[in-house]
Amino acid sequence: MSNFHLWIIWALGTVGIGLWLVFALPTADSARTSSTFFLPGDTTHGHYQIEVKCGVCHEPGGEVREESCLECHASDLKLARDTHPKSKFRDPQKVALLAKIDASRCITCHREHVPDQTLTHGLTVPSDYCVTCHRNVADTRPSHRDFTFDSCSTVGCHNYHDNTALYENFLFKHAAQPNLLDDPHTLLRKSQSDPWPGQKKEMPLTRADMDAPTKFTADEQIIHEWESTAHGTAGVNCTACHTVPAEVGQNSATSQAGEAATGRGAWSSAVDVKVCGQCHRDEARGFLSGLHGMRTQAGLSPMSPSLARLPMNHDSLHRSLDCNACHPGHEFDTRLAAVEACLKCHDDKHSREYTGSRHYQLWLAEILGKAPAGSSVSCATCHMPRVEGESAGFSSDAVRVVHNQSWNLAPVEKMVRSVCMDCHGLKFSLNALADPDLKDTCYEGTPKRQLKSVNMAESWFKSRQRKSP
Ligand code: HEC
Ligand code: HEC
Ligand code: HEC
Ligand code: HEC
Ligand code: HEC
Ligand code: HEC
Ligand code: HEC
Ligand code: HEC
Ligand code: HEC
Ligand code: HEC
Repeated sequence: MSNFHLWIIWALGTVGIGLWLVFALPTADSARTSSTFFLPGDTTHGHYQIEVKCGVCHEPGGEVREESCLECHASDLKLARDTHPKSKFRDPQKVALLAKIDASRCITCHREHVPDQTLTHGLTVPSDYCVTCHRNVADTRPSHRDFTFDSCSTVGCHNYHDNTALYENFLFKHAAQPNLLDDPHTLLRKSQSDPWPGQKKEMPLTRADMDAPTKFTADEQIIHEWESTAHGTAGVNCTACHTVPAEVGQNSATSQAGEAATGRGAWSSAVDVKVCGQCHRDEARGFLSGLHGMRTQAGLSPMSPSLARLPMNHDSLHRSLDCNACHPGHEFDTRLAAVEACLKCHDDKHSREYTGSRHYQLWLAEILGKAPAGSSVSCATCHMPRVEGESAGFSSDAVRVVHNQSWNLAPVEKMVRSVCMDCHGLKFSLNALADPDLKDTCYEGTPKRQLKSVNMAESWFKSRQRKSP
């Protein structure tokens, strides 16, 4: 073999090992520094938390796996009735459009590690790209004649994917609603956990029924909290949470098998998200698919304020996000979870201003029993709304709390139908969400912007009614 051939083999080998080191090897936090060294630039707001797991998106050879995007996003895009799904471009007439901008691939518009080209929502093409396919929109819509193409997807007009609160029929149908509806209220939840493995009719339990080994029953506060709240009352005994079930697995981050034996298996002081998820499937699934739980889902250490890009409270920097972060102790108090828990960590302007809002006054009235249940607005009302099952892809149609706090956050109109319109009219809701100052005041004050879209839909339908005989 000539020297030249040896050189080629050496060079290929080095490149191969390099690629393997970059894309295949890094699987744990400890790999953070070594793998992120190869990142060409900052990863987007939605993904930086899992960026060390290159293999989530990249093939071992470096290529981006397009299916990976769908593994995490397909179900939400489907629920949002995506306006521009791949299937829309199969029609031979439309295929030609793809030559100009390949809308059948996610990474045409959402690249990574290119911070200087990245707009909000992880968009990496200039915001006037709608022109590529809709150049002639003003031919059929004279109202659009003076619009520029970078204004198509401003708040309250259009989104690329989710137009569930923006399609014309919907705008028209709700155009006449007042700012505040009669009888404004959100849905209420009912008792609804899934039946749990080995469930017996043994409710409610008292301290006499406790099945924890005695060395763990010394804390009077734990026992009182358990006995007097949902789990004790519904017959959920200590070991239902404190045993590591086989399916949660040996290498799960929090299992400490072998501490002491219980009737069901080894006692574990820490309780894994998956243990709660045995009985609260939709809550666990939701939590794991949002910003709060995505690191846990990816097998990394849990999300924590110290890793955040948003402003967080210094006292909480090293807390971990698990179920307990919002449901501390043995009370699992859902009111504490809805405001107090959030403010322990979140410290941006919007979050801090919440307690100065009228929504917060309504919340105080509700928790003090001065106003009916469902009449108020907590952080959770907006970010973790109670919705009917099928609208959030839950396993049943019961009213449940969405535990993915990113579910209705972007684009912002998502919140209109899932939250605001329980109480406010469509036009008011869109105007409020389009006003950046109101984000900063946590929606205290009157919207200053008056969007044209609702009026445009109205005049469009009225003009058509006039034309048809
Ligand atoms: C959330 C998904 C995701 C994760 C996680 C991720 N990337 Fe990427 N990466 C992408 C996308 C999307 C692109 C853009 C691909 C394109 O433009 O064709 C990209 C591009 C790149 C490129 C440039 C490739 C090129 O052809 O220009 C490199 C290098 C890269 N990534 C390295 C990494 C490394 C190293 C990690 C782990 C530390 C990582 N990436 C983690 C999604 C991801
Ligand atoms: C492991 C799961 C996972 C994978 C794989 C993944 N994403 Fe995401 N993505 C998330 C989560 C979680 C968020 C943040 C919450 C949200 O917006 O739903 C997010 C956010 C986003 C956002 C919004 C970003 C922002 O700043 O608001 C876009 C756009 C996006 N992803 C596109 C993609 C594309 C394109 C791919 C494929 C290259 C991809 N995602 C791969 C989980 C994933
Ligand atoms: C032609 C450009 C384009 C393509 C292709 C595209 N997106 Fe988007 N995407 C956008 C724009 C623009 C936004 C900003 C919000 C909006 O207008 O809907 C966005 C927003 C998102 C968001 C944030 C949440 C939301 O609903 O706004 C996610 C997640 C997302 N895209 C995922 C994907 C995935 C997954 C694919 C591939 C199946 C994909 N996108 C293909 C343009 C595109
Ligand atoms: C790759 C080409 C392409 C791009 C880029 C594109 N669209 Fe479309 N859009 C289409 C096609 C195709 C349809 C379906 C039209 C049809 O069925 O006749 C459509 C439909 C629509 C509709 C009507 C939806 C409905 O169901 O009635 C709206 C509104 C729309 N697009 C807005 C936008 C906006 C805003 C942008 C930029 C953020 C954009 N489009 C970017 C190709 C594109
Ligand atoms: C063995 C089954 C089981 C396990 C394990 C379990 N729960 Fe529950 N949980 C229930 C039942 C039953 C209820 C009461 C009935 C209902 O609300 O559906 C309940 C109620 C709740 C409530 C509502 C409390 C209220 O006042 O309305 C919260 C919050 C909760 N659980 C959180 C958790 C968390 C967090 C974990 C894990 C640390 C967990 N649960 C583990 C069965 C379980
Ligand atoms: C619904 C689930 C659930 C039930 C039922 C439950 N616990 Fe716990 N327990 C937890 C969680 C969650 C933690 C906190 C674990 C952590 O910090 O990671 C915990 C922590 C503990 C701890 C450790 C406290 C500490 O300060 O470290 C003890 C002891 C304990 N539980 C005893 C009990 C006893 C006794 C019962 C029955 C009377 C019981 N638990 C019932 C979920 C539960
Ligand atoms: C970011 C804070 C937060 C985290 C983390 C969190 N929850 Fe919740 N949870 C809430 C809030 C707030 C409510 C009540 C909202 C309401 O009543 O409107 C709630 C309600 C519940 C309920 C009542 C039933 C229902 O309708 O969903 C259960 C059960 C529950 N959570 C279980 C869990 C489990 C299991 C986890 C971990 C996978 C978890 N929660 C993590 C904030 C949180
Ligand atoms: C233990 C700390 C902690 C608690 C408790 C907590 N969060 Fe978070 N939250 C975080 C961290 C960390 C992030 C990720 C921020 C980042 O990536 O910059 C986050 C992200 C978010 C986001 C997404 C922001 C975005 O731009 O995508 C929202 C919305 C949110 N939290 C709302 C809430 C609400 C509402 C509650 C209470 C029901 C709550 N959080 C409780 C730490 C917490
Ligand atoms: C009336 C509804 C409403 C209430 C109440 C509310 N938020 Fe928000 N929040 C929003 C909307 C809408 C956005 C997104 C605004 C945007 O993107 O323009 C947002 C954004 C956020 C973000 C992302 C901030 C950023 O800069 O990206 C966090 C974190 C957050 N909220 C936490 C909270 C917490 C914590 C509370 C309670 C103390 C709370 N919110 C109360 C509607 C609400
Ligand atoms: C449970 C019902 C309820 C929900 C849900 C709700 N609000 Fe409100 N909101 C109210 C009530 C009641 C007021 C006080 C109205 C008054 O005093 O005239 C109010 C006040 C406001 C104000 C101040 C109005 C002013 O004139 O100063 C804004 C802005 C606002 N809401 C925006 C929103 C947005 C945006 C959403 C959705 C993200 C939302 N609200 C969800 C009930 C609700």
